[in-house]
Amino acid sequence: MRAWVIREAGGPEKLTLKAIPRPLPRKGWVLIRNRAFGLNRSEWFTRRGASPSVVFPRVLGIECVGQVVAAPGGDLLPGQRVAAMMGGMGREYDGSYAEYVLVPRAHVFPLQTKLEWKVLGALPEMLQTVHGSLHTGLEIDRAENILIRGGTSSIGFAAIALARAAGLEVTATTRNPQKAAGLKEAGAAHVLIDDGNLAQKTRSLHPQGFDRLLELIGTTTLEDSLQAVRRGGIVCMTGILGGAWTLRNFKPMEAIPGGVKLTAYSGSSSDISVEQLQHYVTLVESGLLKLTIGPTFSFEELRKAHRLMDENRANGKIVIETGKENGKE
Ligand SMILES: NC(=O)c1ccc[n+]([C@@H]2O[C@H](COP(=O)([O-])OP(=O)(O)OC[C@H]3O[C@@H](n4cnc5c(N)ncnc54)[C@H](OP(=O)(O)O)[C@@H]3O)[C@@H](O)[C@H]2O)c1
Repeated sequence: MRAWVIREAGGPEKLTLKAIPRPLPRKGWVLIRNRAFGLNRSEWFTRRGASPSVVFPRVLGIECVGQVVAAPGGDLLPGQRVAAMMGGMGREYDGSYAEYVLVPRAHVFPLQTKLEWKVLGALPEMLQTVHGSLHTGLEIDRAENILIRGGTSSIGFAAIALARAAGLEVTATTRNPQKAAGLKEAGAAHVLIDDGNLAQKTRSLHPQGFDRLLELIGTTTLEDSLQAVRRGGIVCMTGILGGAWTLRNFKPMEAIPGGVKLTAYSGSSSDISVEQLQHYVTLVESGLLKLTIGPTFSFEELRKAHRLMDENRANGKIVIETGKENGKE
């Protein structure tokens, strides 16, 4: 089969298209004919050498959608449509930048859907992350409004859609005023331009502060975000678009206003059930949930897709369609 292999960290050119052996079916694991997969920032970090636990050479890719080829000893049947995500995929063992993927059954979600592969491929990791952040992290069922910091990321766009669908008033941020219209189109009632100092600007919308704040920029803006939330409100850090994992000289007594709650969401495929993922997929299929999806690329264009991610120009989830096997089928 064909797979994009990375041998050393660096730019998109470090991803090389190779012919490697197709994985062999294995008891308790599912062999999937990969039809499409979304690109993720975590793969971007890994490509650049910022995931010390990932040993090269490796086939990256933490999610995919496709059809079961074989599932020895399991309940899944050949041909069945599935999604797979996380659980070490593309990190501890080879992942989805390949025509076939072998994944432990625990991380495979059977799905009933006729959605096009390129649409379905955008959904698993995105929906899992947003569902987990909004419900496990932010408990949005007890909130009326939310600020999504990093609104133009694929996670940001999906969070706008899901928060809106849950009845919240949504405000979203971007650093780039030209992207404001896209955020409004996606469902944001208000857009704030993020120059790193948002807390003051938020007061004109909610003088006491927001009920909830989804932090996708990370530690570089977290202290400012904590000042933008009301007493009893919650800040959930889910992303690190700002590129820094740690907070230096963090003084909790000064940084966290009294009564404001700080949590984080690091994501696990077990945070969303098959039924919940199916529910969202059905809503997308019926047109009741409109998600902003970025550009689609062919399997051969993976480097080009990574370049787009380097340049922050995707405006939504980037999807790769694997197309025909070996370019012919
Ligand atoms: N916890 C989890 O389970 C989980 C799962 C998936 C993703 N994530 C995280 O969620 C975040 C979003 O991921 P994604 O794949 O959706 O991202 P993405 O679509 O690649 O995000 C692109 C956007 O990021 C913004 N951005 C890029 N660099 C930035 C910087 N230095 N400072 C501020 N904004 C910056 C840009 O917004 P503007 O130019 O418009 O400002 C750009 O439009 C990432 O940090 C990712 O690691 C977490």
